[in-house]
Amino acid sequence: MSSALFSPFKLAALELANRIVVAPMCQYSADDGCANDWHMMHLGMLGNSGASLVVVEATHVERQGRITHGCMGLYSDDNELALQRVVAQCRRLGTAKFGIQIAHAGRKASSQRPWEGAKALQPGQDPWPTFAASPLPWGEGWHVPREATETDLERVTQAFVSAAQRALRIGFDEIELHMAHGYLMHGFMSPLSNKRTDKYGGSFENRMRFPLAVTRAVRAVVPKHVPLGARVTGTDWREGGLTPDDAVNIARALKGEGLDFICVSSGGALADIRTPSDPGYNVPIAARVKKEAGIATRVVGMIVTPQQAEEIVAKGQVDMVSMARAFLDDPHWGWHAAKALKADVARPPQYLRAGPKLWAPAVAGA
Ligand SMILES: Cc1cc2nc3c(=O)[nH]c(=O)nc-3n(C[C@H](O)[C@H](O)[C@H](O)COP(=O)(O)O)c2cc1C
Repeated sequence: MSSALFSPFKLAALELANRIVVAPMCQYSADDGCANDWHMMHLGMLGNSGASLVVVEATHVERQGRITHGCMGLYSDDNELALQRVVAQCRRLGTAKFGIQIAHAGRKASSQRPWEGAKALQPGQDPWPTFAASPLPWGEGWHVPREATETDLERVTQAFVSAAQRALRIGFDEIELHMAHGYLMHGFMSPLSNKRTDKYGGSFENRMRFPLAVTRAVRAVVPKHVPLGARVTGTDWREGGLTPDDAVNIARALKGEGLDFICVSSGGALADIRTPSDPGYNVPIAARVKKEAGIATRVVGMIVTPQQAEEIVAKGQVDMVSMARAFLDDPHWGWHAAKALKADVARPPQYLRAGPKLWAPAVAGA
């Protein structure tokens, strides 16, 4: 029986060889937002992992929208040039297509790199002022953001447009808007972090106003043949926060603005919220989004084994699986999944001798 995970999928005009996506993963290793040799190695490796699509890490649309001093950006010509160099080589030498996640960190900006403490930057560490939906810190000890003004929102919307245009010039195959994990847009969507009393707060429609304005403005410059999607929150995992019902409504609203796909993640609205760690914890929510919003859907979160990924796609719960840590652990995860599921996967010619001929006799003899 042929594998569902290794069946092709089309998103707008983008033909993907299989349903496996490498999730965006911050590397905290950029120089003033610019990609460098670390990204060449990291993305080059993932470009030959067997996944049909690799999504480049949260890449920030404003300098002050970065999470850490090491986060990537697309806010300057230098950023664009540096990422263009990396992505051009990875596309030339790899088998995967490349997408990019564009983001603004909001009240989670001005943080230390994970391996330097993962807290708010302290005096002496070159912190910068942050802003968010409401002037509430993400957690204890975090910066108190300023409440975003209309001028901030207009500037950030334009910054998303400009970053998307830079991404298109670089030649990315798809673009994903970051609307999850407690960053600026999720901060507007969630009642846990949005306490505004103006047209951007209160009702679901008001909390969606800013994310939808960004979506509309970006869609206007991203041609229909290039897939544009969003990573959204399936649930805040907290009473009074966003729920799976909200996720369905968010997906419907984003689809209404012309998005091509949704990636369902969850958690991150507040520092003390713990996201579950059981296998495929977002899958039931993503399955609802796919069915009830009727949009191409991918899901992320504790998808680790080939059989698990195969089952999720074969059951029709989602269209694609997005995986992060499993690919760091095994950068040939897609090759090994193809072996386990007796499917074909693209490899670079230099590595063809590690293909089915290597393991077929071993499997036959098993
Ligand atoms: C090192 C690392 C960096 C991450 N950076 C991002 C990011 O840039 N954008 C994002 O949406 N999620 C990011 N995440 C979250 C992952 O994309 C993913 O949603 C999460 O790790 C759960 O998936 P997994 O169980 O397959 O690892 C990151 C995760 C890791 C481990």
